[in-house]
Amino acid sequence: MGRRRQLYEGKAKILFEGPEPGTLVQYFKDDATAGNGAKKGVITGKGVLNNRISEHLMLRLHEIGIPTHFIRRLNMREQLIREVEIIPLEVVIRNVAAGSLSKRLGIKEGTRLPHPIVEYYYKNDSLHDPMVSEEHITAFGWACAHDLEDIVSLSMRINDFLCGLFIGIGITLVDFKLEFGRLWENDNMRIVLADEISPDNCRLWDAKTSQKLDKDRFRQDMGKVEEAYQEVAMRLGILPEAT
Ligand code: C5P
Repeated sequence: MGRRRQLYEGKAKILFEGPEPGTLVQYFKDDATAGNGAKKGVITGKGVLNNRISEHLMLRLHEIGIPTHFIRRLNMREQLIREVEIIPLEVVIRNVAAGSLSKRLGIKEGTRLPHPIVEYYYKNDSLHDPMVSEEHITAFGWACAHDLEDIVSLSMRINDFLCGLFIGIGITLVDFKLEFGRLWENDNMRIVLADEISPDNCRLWDAKTSQKLDKDRFRQDMGKVEEAYQEVAMRLGILPEAT
């Protein structure tokens, strides 16, 4: 790890130059932040679990034809990914009211939504990732209408698949955040799923008890955060290696 050039350090991950051109190494940290960095902490073993959970979900999505940046897991905390041009949007898909939706619109947490709702947030720390509309996205050139069409259709397919996968292991996929990138191959450009899918960016509730199995346990000081991430990994059939 020390020999590689670090390209970027985020709140939960570090990106290093990859072994071949067009590749990067994504390193998963144990650091956790909430409230746009206002709350900081460490969730011991989180990086290891998220690396494995995200690997598992990206591979399952690849099997149903979703293009992703994931190539392979390298070790406990690192995965090899394709270098993409990140689209500066956080795409949130919601199935059940919770979090900022409940707060903003006064809809009781736990209310099942009549259909999945997609929201866009502009990725910008200093502006606190404000919510934006399709009009903003196309007007300011963050993505064109065609890119957005791909992003929405991929997001809906991912949501359908993940809802089924999680309900099969007794977990409700309440909502989650995705990021996408542009992958250039020769002169062709494809929109691909990037970043990670893990309990850091999904709300996952036990389907029977509604117990939270995700980062809300950290955000809301509920305790048993590591245990919740381990429970998700266990139910996914990923045997946790030593953390
Ligand atoms: O806070 P909010 O209700 O808008 O979050 C919706 C979903 O997006 C949650 O699953 C949350 O974990 C995820 N999210 C994220 N990164 C952000 C904001 C939200 O992963 N910066």
